[in-house]
Amino acid sequence: MKQRALLEWSARSRRDLPWRRTRDPWAVLVSELMLQQTQVPRVVPKYEAFLGRFPTVAACAAAPVGEVVKAWAGLGYNRRAVNLHRAAVALAGAPPPCDLAALLALPGIGPYTARAVLAFAYEEPVCPLDVNTARPLARAFGVRTQAEADALVPPGRSWQWNQALMDLGATVCTRRAPRCDACPLAGACRWQARGGPDPAAPAGRQSPFAGSDRQGRGRLVDAMRRGPVPLQELGAAAGWPDDPARARRAADSLVADGLAVLRDGALALP
Ligand code: ADE
Repeated sequence: MKQRALLEWSARSRRDLPWRRTRDPWAVLVSELMLQQTQVPRVVPKYEAFLGRFPTVAACAAAPVGEVVKAWAGLGYNRRAVNLHRAAVALAGAPPPCDLAALLALPGIGPYTARAVLAFAYEEPVCPLDVNTARPLARAFGVRTQAEADALVPPGRSWQWNQALMDLGATVCTRRAPRCDACPLAGACRWQARGGPDPAAPAGRQSPFAGSDRQGRGRLVDAMRRGPVPLQELGAAAGWPDDPARARRAADSLVADGLAVLRDGALALP
């Protein structure tokens, strides 16, 4: 059956990634937050350095959030660092729990991250749905909902199954140019049989980064990693020297998100 074919393929070709060598729920949480919007090759060295600096929940909670934002350098979407720190503080020294509702109650932890911790740290029978797992599930199995995805996890094989889906979605069953000739589900895949357009593909592409508000915010956080940014230098630091008002709005949004504070006439990491 299709599940077995995928598990056997994965046993042969699973990517060796550092977060796959641990079941430590803190390490799994760190890796999954990093992987949410950042590519695997970029995450690998950052993940190892981050855990070297913050090996436990307690080590992270004890640090100022600005230190966690500094350790997040190079990963982008810096709000994830603030959320991770908030979650560590809320955990009060305990590891991320083996309980969906308790995980979802943590700040910044959504359905994907909560299920990823359950599957990859605790081997619970749930499926973290993201673009890479949802695509092969939709194409090959016709899965449309979280409940259907959870129900498909083979008993006792949650870790293997979900890592297999991650690899399949990332390396074979890709959005634009799937390599069906290399797919362990070829021949049994509904989508391939239909040969039709892809109903699972996310609509449209993310707006270009260049010139975006997000790029300006990222530049401001990078500048703060080097030291406080005087308010009159915000425009230059954001890359908008001719639009200081826009830079100020970006700075205010960083403050609102807990990524920055205004101190002594400068924008600084908290
Ligand atoms: N992306 C999100 N989680 C992942 C994992 N566990 N392995 C590879 N890529 C991932």
